[in-house]
Amino acid sequence: MVVAVAVFAATVLHAAILCSAGMTSSFVRSPQKSVDMPLDSDVFKAPPGYNAPQQVHITQGDHVGEAVIVSWVTVEEPGSSIVQYWAENTSHKHKAEGKFNKYKFYNYTSGYIHHCTIRKLQHDTKYYYEVGVGSSARTFWFTTPPKVGPDAPYTFGVIGDLGQTYDSNITLTHYEKNPNKGQTVLYVGDLSYADNYPFHDNVRWDTWARFVERSVAYQPWIWTAGNHEIDFVPEIGETKPFKPYTNRYRVPYKASNSTAPFWYSVKRASAYIIVLSSYSAYGKYTPQYQWLEDELPKVNRSETPWLIVLMHSPWYNSNTYHYMEGETMRVMYEPWFVKYKVDVVFAGHVHAYERSERVSNIAYNIINGLCSPVSDQSAPVYITIGDGGNIEGLANNLTEPQPKYSAYREASFGHATFSIKNRTHSYYSWHRNQDGYAVEADSLWFFNRFWHQIDDSTTAA
Ligand SMILES: [Fe+2]
Repeated sequence: MVVAVAVFAATVLHAAILCSAGMTSSFVRSPQKSVDMPLDSDVFKAPPGYNAPQQVHITQGDHVGEAVIVSWVTVEEPGSSIVQYWAENTSHKHKAEGKFNKYKFYNYTSGYIHHCTIRKLQHDTKYYYEVGVGSSARTFWFTTPPKVGPDAPYTFGVIGDLGQTYDSNITLTHYEKNPNKGQTVLYVGDLSYADNYPFHDNVRWDTWARFVERSVAYQPWIWTAGNHEIDFVPEIGETKPFKPYTNRYRVPYKASNSTAPFWYSVKRASAYIIVLSSYSAYGKYTPQYQWLEDELPKVNRSETPWLIVLMHSPWYNSNTYHYMEGETMRVMYEPWFVKYKVDVVFAGHVHAYERSERVSNIAYNIINGLCSPVSDQSAPVYITIGDGGNIEGLANNLTEPQPKYSAYREASFGHATFSIKNRTHSYYSWHRNQDGYAVEADSLWFFNRFWHQIDDSTTAA
């Protein structure tokens, strides 16, 4: 009898899981405040040596993955803007010369910020590169992506809203130790949170860049601008939005015919990545609108099957934090995302994790009242991953009841990986900071919307 009851209970439980609607995780993270690491933390330490390059970071430098932008800062003097680089197992060193810039922000003056693009790199090749001179020179390495093609496997990490707290450090360590081995980070905005300090203390832009160097000097991070990059402070005379961000972080926007560094695209392996700006004009006739309208028809899914969009402010968000902030951009662009069958949209901003089912809400026309999200297999999955662990803490106030479109949500810190296997399948997993490095707190197989458009829902309709 006891056995029969247990079997019955297990059957009911199993059925409940299979037929479940969206899930609000029962995992409750202890609500301690996120605290920034102090300035003398080891992760912020400047490298030894006179004028040694610090804050080294790389990103893709062209549209197809054959160039890399190398950036770094020198403090004592400009020094050299030259990058020396060489492929593994070769002795010939190539040289490229970049430029440096410097900026002031209220009472802060930056170091010498160098940017140098190295081009004509071979695909699938490990390169070493060296910046700085003499005994202060520093050597790093990266691996170029495979040639753009429909079945090139590639694994992206996804991180957002990282900041520089103890939790941020745990997130970055989890990403580094994740056995899925991300090869490039898709970064969905809000980098340093320097603007939480008096006068937006830009020293915290420097410390952030020293903190993340251990990853971003070795693999590219694809940048998206968030609200904490705006740094608009007219009361202290700082009226040029994005000043620290654009001085420090360069992206290859001209290679995709964009006219501003806040929206652009890159191809990488089998993925076409479109980066949008929640904080630049996106209404009809604006530069971003015109660019996206021209851009989406250019995506050739026979070349790059996976169409990924990055933005900061999420369109589908059932957290009370930043509720509806993405709505106006959704109204403008969602019909295009469905028409062009975007596979997945990654956003940040909300300091929690949420994954949607494939839904759209594009039928409404002011008079017909059709304004509810509906299941739509041509629509992307929307993932909010603003859970890097910054000083503002968790967004732990979820709206109730959980909307039907919301497949999984949880107020925890973490990161994700999106691992493309071929043109039809990609494996996605979200990793919570409290777990072991290999634990997947949420995971699913993505089926490509162009090549394999079958239902990949994980909850009952
Ligand atoms: Fe944000």
